[in-house]
Amino acid sequence: MPSSLRTPLCDLLGIEIPILQAGMGRGLGSTTSAAMVAAVSEAGGLGCLGGAGLSADQLRAEVRAIRALTSKPFGVDLLIPASLADADVPREEVRRQVQQRHPQHWVLVMSLYERFGLDPENHHPNEWAISPTLMREQAAVVIEEKVPVFVAALGDPAWIVPPAHEQGIIVMGMSGSPGNARRQVAAGVDVVVAQGTEAGGHTGTIATLALVPQIVDQVSPIPVVAAGGIADGRGVAAALALGAQGVWCGTAYLFSHEANLHQPMRDQLDGAKARDMIAGTSYTGKPSRIYYNEVAKAWTDSGLVPLEMPHQTVIMDDFNHAAEVAGRYELIQNPGGQIAGMLSGLRSSAEITRDLAEGAAAVIRDVQRFVR
Ligand SMILES: Cc1cc2nc3c(=O)[nH]c(=O)nc-3n(C[C@H](O)[C@H](O)[C@H](O)COP(=O)(O)O)c2cc1C
Repeated sequence: MPSSLRTPLCDLLGIEIPILQAGMGRGLGSTTSAAMVAAVSEAGGLGCLGGAGLSADQLRAEVRAIRALTSKPFGVDLLIPASLADADVPREEVRRQVQQRHPQHWVLVMSLYERFGLDPENHHPNEWAISPTLMREQAAVVIEEKVPVFVAALGDPAWIVPPAHEQGIIVMGMSGSPGNARRQVAAGVDVVVAQGTEAGGHTGTIATLALVPQIVDQVSPIPVVAAGGIADGRGVAAALALGAQGVWCGTAYLFSHEANLHQPMRDQLDGAKARDMIAGTSYTGKPSRIYYNEVAKAWTDSGLVPLEMPHQTVIMDDFNHAAEVAGRYELIQNPGGQIAGMLSGLRSSAEITRDLAEGAAAVIRDVQRFVR
């Protein structure tokens, strides 16, 4: 039966069902694909490209590839600098600093290369660890290409809101706490994504069930989209009951044909129980929920507290790169949420999208039997 699930957010975004596929970037490239984004948008939801790991030229090419596949609205998700004045940080300098100031961490990473037979000279190819220059170039592509929806992942979106609005672009801000949501609204975002700790990738400490109603209360009438732990109609119905006007699902789409994932990473997620998806700082220095693999375990066992971003990011981006070059994909950082424990197998992104909406409509009808 076709879904009739529809909220005011659908009118704002120009979509038919309030199902948003989360932008999922990575160090180099993207876990999302033009095929995924277009399929979700064609199914009536909002597909979103995770663009953080793309050069400006790659991002423009992906946006055009999406447009070749669909004329429906879609989004691009990017990391943005906290301030326009932030300077670029060279990776080589960060490597030197870790070696000199944090010798135990350096020794641990070198021992990981040896243990897994990887080449420590296979450095991550990008020159910059943090590059506000790149982030500004990426944001410029979003504006020039008039991408319908821009999603700001980290940082303060205040500087990008005016030029985005000038082009008719809707701006959404990711948030893991009520305080941050208020700051996002003060910066001028049109929609807040309330992401609970269950989520895959970088995440806060507040659970979705507790976070969403608090953010809804704080930012009303700005629409809120719920994220973290939602992968079927039950989760969508719960999010709407909490006051959200839509959902932003990442992990659900990792179980799609269109996700850019190496097979061993798919296998890890497929076999994962909820407790295998652990938030830790071993790969980036910021809490990120990932499949707890041998590398994350080695950091725990070492007793060392991982360094902060960008130091931990740089040494582990190098490690990820060396593992990828060697085809040891099971050692690469593999973000995913607790809901992976419920999921298995592969479906099309279109089917996942339709099932989320139709499942929610069925659940909402079903729970009405409890109302007397
Ligand atoms: C593989 C992966 C990569 C992610 N990368 C990003 C990113 O680049 N930007 C961002 O805003 N969120 C990122 N996230 C978080 C998602 O946008 C989203 O908030 C999260 O997946 C929702 O929770 P769920 O995984 O339980 O569905 C990522 C999540 C995953 C699983």
